[in-house]
Amino acid sequence: MSLSSKWLGYKLQSPLIIASGQNTTTGSNLGKWVETIVENKWGGVVTKTYFPGSDVYSIPYLWTTSQYKNVAMQNCGPNLQQFSRGEDRRLKESIRISHSYGLVVAVSIMASSVDEWVSLAKRAEADGADIIELNYSCPAAINSIETNKLGGYQLSKTPDIVTEVTSKIVEAVKIPVAAKLTPNTSDITVLARAVLSGGVSGITAINTVQGIIGVDVETARPACSDVLGNAFKTGISGPAIKPVGLRLVADIAQALPEIPITGVGGINTWSDAVEYILLGADNVGICTAVMHNGFGIGKKIYSGIEDYVKRHKYRSISSFKGKALEHVTSVSVECPKSSAVIDPEKCVNCGRCYTACHEGAYDAIRKLKSGLKVNPKKCAACGLCKVVCPNNAVYVTVNAV
Ligand SMILES: Cc1cc2nc3c(=O)[nH]c(=O)nc-3n(C[C@H](O)[C@H](O)[C@H](O)COP(=O)(O)O)c2cc1C
Ligand code: SF4
Ligand code: SF4
Repeated sequence: MSLSSKWLGYKLQSPLIIASGQNTTTGSNLGKWVETIVENKWGGVVTKTYFPGSDVYSIPYLWTTSQYKNVAMQNCGPNLQQFSRGEDRRLKESIRISHSYGLVVAVSIMASSVDEWVSLAKRAEADGADIIELNYSCPAAINSIETNKLGGYQLSKTPDIVTEVTSKIVEAVKIPVAAKLTPNTSDITVLARAVLSGGVSGITAINTVQGIIGVDVETARPACSDVLGNAFKTGISGPAIKPVGLRLVADIAQALPEIPITGVGGINTWSDAVEYILLGADNVGICTAVMHNGFGIGKKIYSGIEDYVKRHKYRSISSFKGKALEHVTSVSVECPKSSAVIDPEKCVNCGRCYTACHEGAYDAIRKLKSGLKVNPKKCAACGLCKVVCPNNAVYVTVNAV
């Protein structure tokens, strides 16, 4: 069974793409690891973003807390790749090797002026890029970007300028251009429409969510402070952001069903990837899970998707793309009168549902000699008991008439 997929007109051996990050820096990683990347079922890669400005490092720039260990990170430094002269040669070579293994390469760029955006895009194209990904979403605090309306994430605050800049870049190159959007906005569909008007062929969503991963309560310093004790309010990645990513991909897919989407954000397992596809993504990008586990995680995710596809008798990735969207509504739909039911076979009598309903809901659970029982007349079918049950012993169902 082949899970081949499409990415802006290119055929991918799999729907898995390594999202822009430290795994895809051309200098140290990409060229060297292409064979391993392909063996582990990745279909494409997006390079670490190129930026012409100075490379300011917060040291260390990756942080997590014990709660998120091995799954989520805060990325505190710009640590972008500079498009120096030598880099052209390295990028060209990395792309050449990637192509010899059938790997599709998008080159991610970010700039501070229209001329810079256009010139980086042209260089990436000349170096052999298959796709240009416009990084309109890097939350890193970079001085030249922070003060500049045309730079990266700052640009996202002015959708009409996004369209203008995008159209200039799209006009300047022949290869497809995608835009990577920020979740740090009140309505991602405004940005999606802006880049679409600018002529992009696809959208990548999402980049990291701005946040503070934690505070060291002993030192009263943010958990992400650098060796000087400063902390940038930058991006959180990993499973903590998956619900945000899923929602924003669904928003874009519902608003603009024709635009191809690469779904990114917190994918750690095959089912995370399938969830993004069910909500309208054509393929998925993964960054943090690869940094934590290595390229081998691709093979595990791929084989999980393969089993899923076989189990459901789907013929391709596109046959289940967007299947969950019709059930995602923005307003609540009136439901028939329902109530919770406790399955005595599964209940281990821990009492958590009783406390939750008694103190936090509608006091609808009674303690009987035979066990716990829901009074359907008092039950508001809020579902709290189901949420707290450790044994999956509660379900909510339509009341018998
Ligand atoms: C350490 C690190 C570096 C990243 N660098 C970039 C980058 O240079 N360009 C970019 O567009 N996204 C960058 N990202 C964002 C990821 O590509 C991805 O959008 C985000 O982390 C969410 O996906 P994940 O949960 O799979 O990591 C970076 C993320 C991390 C954690
Ligand atoms: S669904 Fe809500 S109201 Fe009904 S039993 Fe459970 S917690 Fe109580
Ligand atoms: S929370 Fe679940 S297992 Fe515990 S008493 Fe309620 S139904 Fe039983």
